[in-house]
Amino acid sequence: MKVFVTGHNGYIGPHLLELLKREGHFVAACDLDLFEACKIASVVEPDITLKKDLRSLTVKELEGYDCVMHLAAISNDPMGNLNPEITYSINRDGSIRLAELAKQAGVGRFLFSSSCSIYGKGETPDLDETASLNPLTAYAISKIETEKALTAMADDGFAPVFLRNSTAYGYSPMFRIDLVVNNLLACAFSKGEIRIMSDGKPWRPLIHCRDIAHAFVALLNAPREKVFNKAINIGANEENYQVKDIADKVQQLMPAARIVFTGEVGNDPRDYRVNFNLLYSLLPDFRLEYSLDTGMEHLYQELKRIHFSAADFDGDRFVRLKLLQKNLSKIL
Ligand SMILES: NC(=O)c1ccc[n+]([C@@H]2O[C@H](COP(=O)([O-])OP(=O)(O)OC[C@H]3O[C@@H](n4cnc5c(N)ncnc54)[C@H](O)[C@@H]3O)[C@@H](O)[C@H]2O)c1
Repeated sequence: MKVFVTGHNGYIGPHLLELLKREGHFVAACDLDLFEACKIASVVEPDITLKKDLRSLTVKELEGYDCVMHLAAISNDPMGNLNPEITYSINRDGSIRLAELAKQAGVGRFLFSSSCSIYGKGETPDLDETASLNPLTAYAISKIETEKALTAMADDGFAPVFLRNSTAYGYSPMFRIDLVVNNLLACAFSKGEIRIMSDGKPWRPLIHCRDIAHAFVALLNAPREKVFNKAINIGANEENYQVKDIADKVQQLMPAARIVFTGEVGNDPRDYRVNFNLLYSLLPDFRLEYSLDTGMEHLYQELKRIHFSAADFDGDRFVRLKLLQKNLSKIL
């Protein structure tokens, strides 16, 4: 098939490119390369590369593709808070425009990278796709408003699908440490401290970044009628963890590391445990490649391989917010 990917040079994108090329698909990809400094290994290149802002793509550039996989975004809450207008401009308005162009160009399927963070402060312990949404940030609001607008565009020729991804972790050639598991593990590895910023109690559904890529590929291959216009939580029921559980697992890997509660964020209001039954009922053969244990062990080995240091932990290279601040002029 012919697939158009946005955000292929982000954290999840390189895994997706590798899986798509391994399956023999033709891939065009668009990315502004805001975070190229974070590269720690080589990546699989697309057949066509468009190094440009997704907001300036044209219908012509999208013609002839079977599917758009839309990952490019301002991809977390702190970056969203830095400048909410940019988050709305790229994540919401840019995504809606891209979907309109894709529809005009005759692209049949549009896989949108949404997020479980739209559940915000979960009201029930086991949130499925019908749960009420309690967005707490510009980032989460931008994802909800995009889902709403794209749902209204669905018709016989255009099938949007919303991947409500769990919080990602694990090794990627375009590494980042501003995600909870990577942060705890990288800090313990480089500084000997497991720094918990909240009280450790909030729940988070977790997923290896490569498993998000697997989900995109599975949803590309799924029968249209099964996934048409559906929002689907991406993760697994047994992969919901409290932050303190993650810290315990880091300590099992590195017994000499000390657990420290910094209290920086007090009671973290983002607290949600998610139900993933729909994913497995729609795609009965879908399985995660990694559990938190195997994904953390793998990342630990990779941190050793790249000699990840305290300077790496404190520096700008692996923190999206810091790199974005340097590159802000590219997206204003
Ligand atoms: N990482 C997670 O935990 C997670 C969880 C749930 C959902 N998601 C969603 O998955 C997607 C990918 O996440 P990620 O972790 O790979 O993010 P990332 O920040 O690592 O990568 C995003 C990529 O998008 C590109 N980009 C940003 N704005 C652009 C623009 N205007 N034009 C062209 N390119 C642009 C950046 O250069 C970057 O390469 C995002 O939509 C994110 O919201 C991520």
